[in-house]
Amino acid sequence: MGKHLHYGGDYNAEQWPRAVWEEDVALMREADVNLVTVGVFSWAQLEPYEGSFSFGWLHDLLDQLAAAGIGVDLATPTAAPPAWLSVRYPDVLPVDAKGTHYSHGSRQTICICSPIYREKARAIVTRLVSEVGGHEAVKMWHVHNEYACHVPYCYCDNHAQAFRHWLKQRYGSLDTLNEAWGTSFWSQTYTDFDQVVPPRLTAAFVNPSLDLDYKRFSNEAFFEEFLLERAILKEARPDVPVTTNFMGFFKPIDYFGWAPQVDIVSTDNYPDTANPDWPLQSAMHYDLVRGLNKKVPWMVMEQTPSRVTWHYPNVPKGPGLMRAMNCQAIARGARGVMFFQWRASRAGAEKFHSAMVPHSGTASPVWADVAALGKELSALENFEDAPVDSNVAFLFSWPNWWALEAPSQPSSDLTIADQLMWLYRPLYEGGVTVDFCHPDEPLDGYAAVIVPSLYLMSEQQGANLLSYVEAGGTAVVSFWSGIVDERDSVYLGPYGGPLRPLLGCDVLDVAPLAASETLELQWEDGAQGKGTLWADVAIERDGHVLARYAKGPFAEKPAVFETSYGRGRAYYVGCRLDHDALTRLYGLVPALRLDAAMKCSGTGVERVARVGTDRRYDFLINYSDEQREIEVPDGGFELLTGTATKRRITLGPAGVAIVRYPSPGAAP
Ligand code: GLA
Ligand code: GLA
Repeated sequence: MGKHLHYGGDYNAEQWPRAVWEEDVALMREADVNLVTVGVFSWAQLEPYEGSFSFGWLHDLLDQLAAAGIGVDLATPTAAPPAWLSVRYPDVLPVDAKGTHYSHGSRQTICICSPIYREKARAIVTRLVSEVGGHEAVKMWHVHNEYACHVPYCYCDNHAQAFRHWLKQRYGSLDTLNEAWGTSFWSQTYTDFDQVVPPRLTAAFVNPSLDLDYKRFSNEAFFEEFLLERAILKEARPDVPVTTNFMGFFKPIDYFGWAPQVDIVSTDNYPDTANPDWPLQSAMHYDLVRGLNKKVPWMVMEQTPSRVTWHYPNVPKGPGLMRAMNCQAIARGARGVMFFQWRASRAGAEKFHSAMVPHSGTASPVWADVAALGKELSALENFEDAPVDSNVAFLFSWPNWWALEAPSQPSSDLTIADQLMWLYRPLYEGGVTVDFCHPDEPLDGYAAVIVPSLYLMSEQQGANLLSYVEAGGTAVVSFWSGIVDERDSVYLGPYGGPLRPLLGCDVLDVAPLAASETLELQWEDGAQGKGTLWADVAIERDGHVLARYAKGPFAEKPAVFETSYGRGRAYYVGCRLDHDALTRLYGLVPALRLDAAMKCSGTGVERVARVGTDRRYDFLINYSDEQREIEVPDGGFELLTGTATKRRITLGPAGVAIVRYPSPGAAP
C-alpha cells in the first residue's frame, strides 16, 4: 500500500447528501488523506429490507474516492444491525445476567451466538463482496467494529447451549469439568452438561473457574464470528489485507488470540488527556498492540482529533497535542494514524464528538491541525525498515487479567492496570521501550523479561520463563505470580507454582495492606524505601536478600530477592515498591541498562528509537508545559524541520523532533 503512512478516518458518508461528498473528497485531498474507512455502520442503507439490497450509492462513493486517489478500508457493516432484523427475529438481541432483554435503538445490540444473526451477517458480507469487493478503491478490509464493545457478555439460551458444547470440547467428560472447576465445594457438582448455565445472577460469588471459562468462551464466540466474515473476504480478495479494530487494553477480548488472523493489527486509542498519565498509558497501549502479532504491521484506526463525548470532562486537545500524539504512535511503530470520524455528524449519538471536519468547517483550528498533519506526514516515509528499538519483554495475558480481578481475591485493590503502570513507569521514564509478550511466546532475544503479577500461569508458561532464565536471561517477577493453573486451581506448597525456582524464597502467605498503610524498607546498603498494597510473608531460601522491611509487623522479614538460576538471574519483588525504590531496583538489574538508556526521567520528554540496518531515528516528544533542551549526538538530521542537528534540540510544549542518523548505533 505504498511507502506512505496511512492517514484518514471513518467516512460515514451515508449521513450526507452527495453535494457534501464532493466537498469531502476535495478536503481530503487538501489534507493529504490517503485512506478512509467506509461502510462501518451502513447495514440499513445497504439492505433496507430483508433480502433487498441497495448498493448503487456505495458504487458511486467508491468511484469518487478512487478517482481522487483515496484508498478505501471497506468495512463489513455487521456491528450495527438494522431495525428490521431485531423486530422480525428478537433472538438476535442479547440478554443480560439478570435476564433483561436489550432492545434496538443504538448499535452493537447483538447476541453473537444467535444463528439468525450469523446467517444474516454472512448474507450481507457475501453481498458486499460480490457488489463492490473487486472495486479498485478497496485497499483494506475492516471487519465489523470494535467486537464486543458494548455487550461483551450475553447470557441467553443460545449462549448457554453453545457454552455447553464448548465445555464438552474442552473437557471431554463431566468428571474432568467437575474436577477443573472444583465443584465439590458448595455442592456444585454437575451430573449432566445441561445443568451448566452461564454465570447469570446468582446469590454469592459465582464459581470463579466457571466465570473464567465463560470469559474464554465469550471471547471465542466473537472470534468465531470474526473468522466467518474474514473467510468470505479472503476468499474473494486474498490480496487485500484484513483488519478489525482492537481497543488496546480491552478486557473482554483476548487480542493475542486474534492477532495472528489479521494482516495488519489496528487499534482505537482514546486516552483521556485530562489524566496526566495519558502519555504513559498511550505508550503502553501501543507497546501492547505492537506486541500482539510481531510479524505484521500495526496502525491506529481511530482516535479523536480533539474531544470525545464519553470522558468526564471531555477536554479538547491543547495546541499541538494531536500532532504530538500521532508522532508518539509512529515512534512506537504505527504504520498509519486515522481518526473517528471524517466529518462531524449533524444528528445522532455522536454529533458532538470531534471530527476532522468540524461543525464549523474549515474555519476551525481542528481542521487546520488535521490538514497540516496530513501534509507533514505525507512528506515522511513510513519507517517500515526501522523497527522499534525494544529489547525488554512485558508478560501479559488476558486469562490472567480475568482471573486475577475476579471477586474473592485477597485484595480487590490489586488490579492489572495498576500493576502494569507501576512496573512500566520507570522504564518509560528511562527511555527503555518494551514489547508486550504472551507468556507462551519464545523469549530468547530479550535482554530482560518483566512479569507483572502473572497470577494465572500454566506449567508450560512457567517452564518457558524458566528456560529463558536458565539460558542466561533476566526476569523481574512481581508478587502474586504463579499462584494458580489455567483452571484457576491453586498450586499447593509455598506460593509461586512453576516460578518457585526464580523467587529465591518461600512465600508462605500474603498480607494485603490497607490503602493507608505503608511499609518501610531498608536496602542492604542502608538506603530506605517504601512499599504499599501488599506484603508477601516470605522466608529466605536460596535467594540473596536485597531489601527487608525495616519495622512494623514484618520487621527484618525479606521483601526483595535476587536469585541466580542456570546462567541467568531473577529478581523477585514481594510488595509494591514505591516509584523510587522500583527505579532503584531496576538500576540494579544490569540487563535493563537503565543507566545507558536515553534518559528523559522527570522532564516530560518521551524518547523512542527506531533502528534499521543502516539508520536510526530518534523520536523526541515534549509533553511538558515548558520548553526543553535535549542533548543529542551530532550528525543527525531532523525530518520535520529539514535541518541538521548539533548537540541540542529545543522543543517547546507539545514539540516533536524526529532525528535521523546515518548509522544504527548513534545512541546519545
Ligand atoms: C460464612 C459462611 C462460610 C464462609 C464464610 C467466609 O461464614 O457460612 O461458608 O463462606 O462466610 O468468610
Ligand atoms: C469507538 C467507535 C466509533 C466511535 C468512537 C467514539 O472507537 O468505534 O464508532 O463511536 O468510539 O469515540
